[in-house]
Amino acid sequence: MKQSSEVAVVGGGIIGSAIAYYLAKAGHRVDLFEAGQIGSGSTRAAAGMLGAHSEYKEFGALLYSFARTSQQLYEEAEADIRALTGIDIERRTGGLLQLVFTAEERARLSDICSLEGVTWLDRAAAEKEVPGLTKSLEGAIHIADDVHVTPAIACRGFCSAAKISGARIHAFTRVEGIAKEDGQYRIQTSKGEWQAEYVVIAGGVWSNALLQRIGLGTPMYPVKGECIAVTNTEIPLSCSLFHDQHYIVPRNNDELIIGATKVRGDWSTEPTSGGIHRVMEKARQMLPGIDKMPFLRSWAGLRPQTIDGKPLIGEHPEMKGLFIAAGHQRNGILLAPVTGKMICDLIDGKAVPEVWMEAFRVDRLHTDEEVLM
Ligand code: FAD
Ligand code: GLY
Repeated sequence: MKQSSEVAVVGGGIIGSAIAYYLAKAGHRVDLFEAGQIGSGSTRAAAGMLGAHSEYKEFGALLYSFARTSQQLYEEAEADIRALTGIDIERRTGGLLQLVFTAEERARLSDICSLEGVTWLDRAAAEKEVPGLTKSLEGAIHIADDVHVTPAIACRGFCSAAKISGARIHAFTRVEGIAKEDGQYRIQTSKGEWQAEYVVIAGGVWSNALLQRIGLGTPMYPVKGECIAVTNTEIPLSCSLFHDQHYIVPRNNDELIIGATKVRGDWSTEPTSGGIHRVMEKARQMLPGIDKMPFLRSWAGLRPQTIDGKPLIGEHPEMKGLFIAAGHQRNGILLAPVTGKMICDLIDGKAVPEVWMEAFRVDRLHTDEEVLM
């Protein structure tokens, strides 16, 4: 017998979990289907930086408002998740220090320096902020609002808060097919059939398999990122360090997260010795003392990259009621709240900024290539 839902969310990473959270809070009947464990895809691999400013190059002036809105939504979500579930998503203030090694680099980053909450520090001021910082700096940009969360916990927080608000969470349940029948969606899962009024595909880079079947081609490819963690009991570090898309992020338990490589088109999730070597080389340039810190572990994850670098968020142009929210590449943790809220607003028929609608249109990247490089 078919079971029924109002909204079926496919994927229990940070994006699907945030969508379930906003929908359930708005009173929708939600069922979330996750093929594995909640948060076990790319989300578990992330560093957790909410880099609306440090990732400015990725957004540009047009989409900065999208990233910034999400960063701000985290404050409210953090408090609400804590109140509902008792879960602390470990949103740590302290911000981020974007290191600048040359005058040319400083000139290239001048657009970030004019944004809210951003301060230029000369070399002496930067060294005062972080003892043990490399001596070869021109200076650094301090970004107060580019704080970080612990991604797996944030994902669990969204998911648990969704559940407390009425969503049903189906882990280890793969969605195998979606078809429209008599005005409803029929959802074939590894544990039986469901019907729903709305479906949201939020399966990260693995969404390709479902998107291809609904005529949207395979618009995503993986960009593998390798990371390591070390123990730091030496250097008091309350902010993340960032340079050239490499970073060192302090967690609250004396761990430093060091990342990450960018390997296009690689679907494997094992870190390689070469990858670890490359991230260590970059980390050493920022914080030379890191070399002596005890090694804890290494891992890798797959960023869901779209061909034009922007996520797919919106409704299928022909299949009304079928939404997609995937392809958040290197910023899915940051962009989870605004994506969840945007999908909820679209389902509720509320206004969403036209510039976001146009930028994230889900049919803009149609291609049938298997893996895009
Ligand atoms: P995922 O987390 O991959 O979740 C998708 C889920 O859908 C998976 O759990 C999968 O099992 C499930 N699924 C897929 N198909 C189906 C199906 N048919 N049926 C049921 N379930 C299905 N972002 C930041 O904002 N800040 C960072 O600091 C940051 N650091 C990163 C560091 C690294 C090394 C990497 C690799 C990524 C980083 N990211 C960061 C990016 C971030 O991890 C991703 O953008 C984000 O996790 C994407 O979330 P998602 O929910 O779309 O995908
Ligand atoms: N946003 C950090 C990363 O993707 O590595």
